[in-house]
Amino acid sequence: MKHFINLKDISTKSLRKILADAKQRKKKRIGLNTLDLDKNAPLKGKILIQMFEKPSLRTRLSFYLAIRQLGGGTITLRSNELHLGKGGESLADTAKILSTYGDGFMLRTDSDNKISEFVKYLKIPLINGLSPSSHPTQVLSDVFTVEEIKQKPISKLRISWIGDSNNVLNSLIAASVKFSFKLNVGCPKNYRPKKNILNLVKKNKKTINFFDDPKKAVTNADVIFSDKVISLNDKVNIKKKTKDFKKFYIDSNLLKLAPKCIFLHCLPRGSEVSDNVFLGKKSHVWQQALNRVHVQKSILMYCFNKLR
Ligand code: CP
Ligand code: NVA
Repeated sequence: MKHFINLKDISTKSLRKILADAKQRKKKRIGLNTLDLDKNAPLKGKILIQMFEKPSLRTRLSFYLAIRQLGGGTITLRSNELHLGKGGESLADTAKILSTYGDGFMLRTDSDNKISEFVKYLKIPLINGLSPSSHPTQVLSDVFTVEEIKQKPISKLRISWIGDSNNVLNSLIAASVKFSFKLNVGCPKNYRPKKNILNLVKKNKKTINFFDDPKKAVTNADVIFSDKVISLNDKVNIKKKTKDFKKFYIDSNLLKLAPKCIFLHCLPRGSEVSDNVFLGKKSHVWQQALNRVHVQKSILMYCFNKLR
């Protein structure tokens, strides 16, 4: 079994295997119904336990469909309904029970520490379905979407991010190291990523370019990514932060500087992007959301040691 916690800890070879498997599986689903099984139902008999400490629409549904299409099943827990949530049962005991009843555990949490603690006690694969510091399933799926639309390896493309230095950007930075792509980040100076994230880039002799001017960050980009300015874990002065990001609003004028670009956004959106862009021709956000199903199927295959 293998965990899927942070892109930085998974080899490029394995990540590429996951993407290749997803491509094949997606092709073979043409004409099938949503709950029709993939050939040979490779995860028949397996159950994925999902637990959410924060809201989710896409991650919840895409993992449900992913495991079902592979022949398995899922049950979704809300942390506040467990003894653990109210503090009455230890994390270690909870992990042992999850491992006794389940085959895999997908956790969306408001604590990175909780992920490290669960890993200590689980006997089944753990998948990080978003933590304060990363969102690896989202970003691996986004790499898939970029290559699917652009029909080129991501290493040959100019990728821009406009927005906060949050969990999604952290995973995108890890992906830029793993897949060797050029990354331009447009955000206010005092909102740049933490040192430990940038150290990963330095250690791997890669570069990320930061811009205080969104125009410079997106000029001639092939892909422009964004995300909400205020994330689920943000305990900030919302008014101040929103004001600090005002200049980084994404509208059609900004996109004119990148005539060949596509626009991607993990969703849900806030007020960082205009309707014109979000719903416009360059936007592929719905395809991006659907691809989570395809890529997460292959992430499950990886975790269950089923990828050849
Ligand atoms: N993009 C994403 O993870 O969406 P949810 O928060 O709805 O799961
Ligand atoms: N950065 C966002 C991503 C939501 C999918 C958040 O953490 O709220």
